[in-house]
Amino acid sequence: MSGFVEKPEPIQVPGLVHLHTGKVRELYRSEAGDLVMVASDRVSAYDWVLPTEIPDKGRVLTQLSLWWFDQLADLLPHHVLSTGLPAGAPDDWAGRTLICKSLNMVPVECVARGYLTGSGLAEYEETRTVCGLALPEGLVDGSELPAPIFTPATKAAVGEHDENVSYEEVARQVGAETATQLRQATLAAYTRARDIARDRGIVLADTKFEFGFDGDTLVLADEVLTPDSSRFWPAEEWEPGRAQPSYDKQFVRDWLTSAESGWDRRSEQPPPPLPQQIVDATRTKYVEAYERLTGTTWS
Ligand SMILES: Nc1ncnc2c1ncn2[C@@H]1O[C@H](COP(=O)(O)OP(=O)(O)OP(=O)(O)O)[C@@H](O)[C@H]1O
Ligand SMILES: [Mg+2]
Repeated sequence: MSGFVEKPEPIQVPGLVHLHTGKVRELYRSEAGDLVMVASDRVSAYDWVLPTEIPDKGRVLTQLSLWWFDQLADLLPHHVLSTGLPAGAPDDWAGRTLICKSLNMVPVECVARGYLTGSGLAEYEETRTVCGLALPEGLVDGSELPAPIFTPATKAAVGEHDENVSYEEVARQVGAETATQLRQATLAAYTRARDIARDRGIVLADTKFEFGFDGDTLVLADEVLTPDSSRFWPAEEWEPGRAQPSYDKQFVRDWLTSAESGWDRRSEQPPPPLPQQIVDATRTKYVEAYERLTGTTWS
């Protein structure tokens, strides 16, 4: 089992057509045909959207994504048109809403990995490859790779895991030229971001980008380089050979798997609400990630 403990009712706004409820975001189409992305304060862990929200998370991640789009702007065009609120939207949407150019999306999750963990580690342990790419012997959980790799995945249906695919499979699906562009853009953006994050004490272990076409132009879409689309590790605690603590969700994961929560991860039961101190500590981590990366104070 996975997904929502209770699926939220989307807010209706005159002039906006509600398109989709993601784990974390609500999507709408404006009358002008643009995509309106509203980031909620929902948080997920162990494939569940938790029944407790983290105050300010939607705004922090939206502002972080915007900051990254700007850091990457000389490498890639992005889809954000405006950060203003659509007419009639609730005031509460301010800071968490992006009006974006609606693109012809490429149906590939463009993952870059600079470090070995997660599904990459699982594949490596079986075959010494990740997405069919050969890697040297002797790597362990959390090892830095000799160079970043492009490890694409196909988008899975809600509640299922994305499936890693080879570069050749991507080329078959989207064409060789687009596949080459995706790989080049993904690795360039990851490398830039990894270096920026490293300077600020955060290991960007891996990240997922999505791209779309505006005519013939490849454009960076979705959210970028947030803790929801990436693995951030605190640099001072990075130690290959074990699972690395997560920058943002470690308190949540530790509490959920502790005796105190009373929850069994392998059961079919939904997770319980988070205690206030876990909510507060987690909010502080999101704000800290934003402040460390951007070098500005969250207000
Ligand atoms: N500029 C864009 N034009 C068109 N579609 C876009 C654009 N940017 C992002 N998208 C799409 O919008 C959707 C965002 O949905 P969202 O991430 O909230 O939910 P999801 O991907 O279904 O689920 P999850 O919560 O697991 O990520 C994705 O399908 C993404 O591909
Ligand atoms: Mg998504």
